[in-house]
Amino acid sequence: MKSTEELKAEHEGILLGLRILEEICGRLERGRKVEAAHLDGMAAFIKEFADRCHHAKEETVLFAELEKAGMPREGGPVGAMLREHEAGRACVRGLDEGIAAYRAGRPAARLVENARTYIDLLRSHIDKENNVLYPMAERLLAPGTDKSMLERFERIEKERVGEGRHEEFHRMLEKLEKEYLEEGK
Ligand SMILES: [Fe+2]
Ligand SMILES: [Fe+2]
Repeated sequence: MKSTEELKAEHEGILLGLRILEEICGRLERGRKVEAAHLDGMAAFIKEFADRCHHAKEETVLFAELEKAGMPREGGPVGAMLREHEAGRACVRGLDEGIAAYRAGRPAARLVENARTYIDLLRSHIDKENNVLYPMAERLLAPGTDKSMLERFERIEKERVGEGRHEEFHRMLEKLEKEYLEEGK
């Protein structure tokens, strides 16, 4: 199914973002300074790319199609995934507060704590989707639904994130990947 492939490709982008964020946390814990613009960029990536776009595609398209195909929302994997999206949003609110505190010259502890909780949550969430929920969707959904799902994905991307913003985030990740993961730590 092309729609689950698109979502899996987005997971790869999110996982790269999480590795960068993890290195940022490590540097902060070792007492190093991190540029506020990089923190803001990562927070924007998480909010816009991961939540407003990727999670919206799952919630309003994939999960909705699964429910239509007979998978109950409560007591099943869809309900569990929705609760994890909500838990992620709570972490992001904490992360924003942590970034604001760090910018104001206070310790990075709140930032790091929320970022690490978010990293752990999203890694296990993505693992469950890639290995359990998406394979179930591929078995359950009729092949004919794929085209309409992809069209709705495109609309979400345009309306919620805006054209060109995805590419902007990919460029930012490439730049931060070089700075945090490839050059001498
Ligand atoms: Fe998800
Ligand atoms: Fe996902």
